[in-house]
Amino acid sequence: MEPNDTSARYDQIAQWWQTQHQDSTYGIAQLERAIKFTFKQHAALDVGCGSSGRFINSLSQHGFQPEGLDISREMINLAQRLHPEITFYREDICDWQPPKLYSLIAAWDSTFHLPLNRQAPTIKKLCDALEPDGVLLFTCGGGYTSSEISGAFQGQEFEYSTLGVDTFLQILAEHHCTCRHLEYDQYPENHVYIIAQKT
Ligand SMILES: C[S@@+](CC[C@H](N)C(=O)[O-])C[C@H]1O[C@@H](n2cnc3c(N)ncnc32)[C@H](O)[C@@H]1O
Repeated sequence: MEPNDTSARYDQIAQWWQTQHQDSTYGIAQLERAIKFTFKQHAALDVGCGSSGRFINSLSQHGFQPEGLDISREMINLAQRLHPEITFYREDICDWQPPKLYSLIAAWDSTFHLPLNRQAPTIKKLCDALEPDGVLLFTCGGGYTSSEISGAFQGQEFEYSTLGVDTFLQILAEHHCTCRHLEYDQYPENHVYIIAQKT
């Protein structure tokens, strides 16, 4: 599924997402684990930030200057209303050119929606956008090989792709990032989060 189609579907559930996730702790322990690896707390980027603002809140509390990016206009509008002081980009991460380097980049349950052929260039772009010792946190499907699946969520059909864990680790290494933590955090669900650090 092309990112614009994913965006249109998230527009439909953006308000629900905000109500449901605003006070949710989902992913926060994993974000805090990633934060522990950081040496500096300068700019941080939440890729596919959604409307809840919970990662933005946590990053602010830890002293970062967070920014949010999302392809869904509704997600961004709602997030911006919650956090008028924060910079948000309404962009497709596949096309976006980072304007600066970041101490931390989080892509929690967002890049797993990209078409398979955009996975590698996007992870490379996120690695390149880290400052030295910067930390990348992202989630992916935990299969051994590349695959694509689809599934219904809140009445919308979404698609997901993964390169497989070994290929993601190879891409990180090729782009000067070391894996610091990899966990099947919802086992037996095939959901993996990876924390990597720029060397
Ligand atoms: C499952 S939601 C997760 C939202 C947020 N990370 C959270 O955990 O609350 C996925 C988000 O990724 C965004 N997204 C999907 N594809 C994207 C793309 N190509 N560029 C930027 N954002 C994207 C969606 O619009 C949606 O807000």
